[in-house]
Amino acid sequence: MSALANAVREDRLWQRHADMAKLGGTPKGGVNRQALSPEDAAARNQLAAWAKARGFSISTDAIGNLFVRREGSDPAARPVLSGSHMDSQPTGGRFDGMYGVLAAFEALEALEDAGVTTRRPVIAVAWTNEEGSRFQPGAMGSAVFAGQYRLDDMLAAKDWKGVKLADALAETLGAAPAPMRGGEPGFALDYYIEAHIEQGPRLENASTTIGVVTGIQGSRRYIVETDGEEAHAGTTPRAARKDAFAAATRIAAAMYEATTDADDTLRFTIGRVEVQPGSPNTVPGKATFTIDMRHPQDAVLESHEKKLRDIVAGRAAPCAARIERVTAVAPTDFDPRVIDLVRDKAGALGLSHMDMPSGAGHDAMHIAKLCPAGMIFVPCERGISHNEIENATPADLAAGTRVLVEVLAELANR
Ligand code: GLV
Ligand code: MN
Ligand code: MN
Repeated sequence: MSALANAVREDRLWQRHADMAKLGGTPKGGVNRQALSPEDAAARNQLAAWAKARGFSISTDAIGNLFVRREGSDPAARPVLSGSHMDSQPTGGRFDGMYGVLAAFEALEALEDAGVTTRRPVIAVAWTNEEGSRFQPGAMGSAVFAGQYRLDDMLAAKDWKGVKLADALAETLGAAPAPMRGGEPGFALDYYIEAHIEQGPRLENASTTIGVVTGIQGSRRYIVETDGEEAHAGTTPRAARKDAFAAATRIAAAMYEATTDADDTLRFTIGRVEVQPGSPNTVPGKATFTIDMRHPQDAVLESHEKKLRDIVAGRAAPCAARIERVTAVAPTDFDPRVIDLVRDKAGALGLSHMDMPSGAGHDAMHIAKLCPAGMIFVPCERGISHNEIENATPADLAAGTRVLVEVLAELANR
């Protein structure tokens, strides 16, 4: 192993995961560290404190993306970035997102400890609100950075309780020690590489350590609303009811059927349902549910979107219903130069590896619009993610980080 790869310290990386898991820690061993919550602010402060202790510079931009920078030798050279996100699902695990941030930070430390000088600066980044479980849309910080979403639109987003993102962001950044960079988010960069747990079972099933990620499937999110009429549960005959939840269940049932494909490639999820007024003895006047739909081919998403719209139009009566598309992210193909480099470095380190696409979304899908980008996956136990019991081994996390630091060192000297 090279001195640089050897400078990646498995124990330090594992301890950092344990330290971060205390911030928003849940009884089952996971985390609830939703975007721009006090727990997210605490994680930002922790990362900033570690960065300061190592003499790296830190800054945040106007959407709250947090950058930790190790200088290169050429002041004119554009940086190489690596990172992921520190926010979690409401019942999230300790590795989804956090691994990519801590692996990038460990890579900076390994470069430092091995005394390696790079021509370009290397920046570890924690993107704001990747999960999109509190504020929609997800992968927000990286999308704003890449010019895919407008900053002002995102600042106006509200969480499910009506809290404005701009207010939550001001509170989060107010508590953070990182200096703020003014202006619109975004700066020139030449390469981006993100480490992440796989979040599926393929690597573990194949007893393989490194996933060489070739791309990310496309995804779309929607909100469906049904409007009926509130009425007394005990007195209102069936013919007189406009039950918004009954309409929502008819629509949902038809959608599940329409999205059940023979080869099990299309992913369709209703993950959040709200019924109003939410009283046991009032016929619901309004129901709202979210849809998350994914497929590697945009044309398939497009044709299924049409089916969803037809179902909403055809199954709501006697209620009214509408469907709104919240996001559409086209499938991403990573750059062959980055894919090849990840594969080569994994091979040179003697690690088993396989090429694979990503089923989950990642910040890399937006940054890939700006520069050559790629990802490194490591296995997670039984492929379980978006669950408090999500788990990975210290050795696999370190192995992925060794690939990462080798890739970063090479890109930073190009
Ligand atoms: C990110 O967690 C996603 O929804 O893929
Ligand atoms: Mn993630
Ligand atoms: Mn996630």
